[in-house]
Amino acid sequence: MAEVIAILNQKGGCGKTTTAVNLSTSLAISGKNILVIDMDPQANATTAFGLEKNEDNSIYRVLTGQQTLDEAIVATEISGLDLLPSHISLSGAEIELSKDIGFPFILKEAMDDIQENYDYIFVDVPPSLGILTINSLVAADSVIIPIQAEFYALEGMADLLDAMNLVETRLNSPSPIKGILITLYDSRTRLGRDVYQNVKQYFGETEFIFKTTIPRNVKLAEAPSHGKPCVIYDEECVGTEAYNNLAKEILTMKGQKVEET
Ligand SMILES: Nc1ncnc2c1ncn2[C@@H]1O[C@H](COP(=O)(O)OP(=O)(O)OP(=O)(O)O)[C@@H](O)[C@H]1O
Ligand SMILES: [Mg+2]
Repeated sequence: MAEVIAILNQKGGCGKTTTAVNLSTSLAISGKNILVIDMDPQANATTAFGLEKNEDNSIYRVLTGQQTLDEAIVATEISGLDLLPSHISLSGAEIELSKDIGFPFILKEAMDDIQENYDYIFVDVPPSLGILTINSLVAADSVIIPIQAEFYALEGMADLLDAMNLVETRLNSPSPIKGILITLYDSRTRLGRDVYQNVKQYFGETEFIFKTTIPRNVKLAEAPSHGKPCVIYDEECVGTEAYNNLAKEILTMKGQKVEET
C-alpha cells in the first residue's frame, strides 16, 4: 500500500509544488513507484512535468465523478512516476463539491483502487484551507509542511494546525506531520538562521524538522519553464542535491501508514 503524503501550507509560494515535483522525481529515480496528484487549479505541478493542462484527464473530473482515478492518471517521461493532472476547471469545484455531504472523503475514496500500485503518493495542495485541502488531508497518511525561511514564515501556521486538528477530531482522520521542510533557505544570512531558530522553537520537538533544508537556488526556479523537474534538468546543482538528500531522508524514515483493521 502506498504511503500518501500531502504537501501543504496555505501560504502561497513557499515551495510546495517545487517539493512535490522534485522529491517525487528523486524517489522515482531511486526505483520507487510514485504518483503525484496535482490538487491545485493553478496546475503548476502538471506544467512542471512538461504535461498539458488537459481537461479530459484531470483531478476535477475525478472529484466530480466523471472519471475514475485510474482513468485520469497519465505517465510522465520519468520511469516509475505517474501524474494525476490538474486543470483550471478545478477552481469551480469548491462550490460544486460542497453540495455533496460526503465531500471531505471524495479523494480518499477515489484512491482506494490504485493505492496498491505505488510506494508513495504525493498530493500537491493549493494555497488555501478550503475543500481541496480538506480532501487532501483526509486522504493523507501524513503531511510535509514547507516553510519559507522569511520574516512571515510562521504567520498562519496556527490556522493550518487548527485545520489539521479539526480533520483529525471531526472527521476522525489524523494526518501526523511527517516533517517541516525549511525552503528558500540561506544559512549565510542572519534572517535565514533566525527563522530556522523560530521554527524550531515553535514546533518544540526538533525531530519534526527535516535535517535537509532547501537552499534558494535559481535552477529550481528555472526548471519548470523547461518542463522538467530540476533533479533531471540539472543533476549537479545545489537544489538537486538538496532534494536528493530529502528523498534519502524520507526513505530512512518509518512509514506512517496505519494499516486499516
Ligand atoms: N528553493 C528555491 N529556490 C529558488 N526558487 C524557488 C525555490 N523553491 C521554489 N522556488 C520558486 O518560487 C516560486 C514558488 O514556488 P512553488 O510554486 O514551489 O511554491 P508553492 O508553495 O507551490 O506556491 P503556491 O502556493 O502558489 O502553490 C516558484 O517560482 C518556484 O520556482
Ligand atoms: Mg503550488
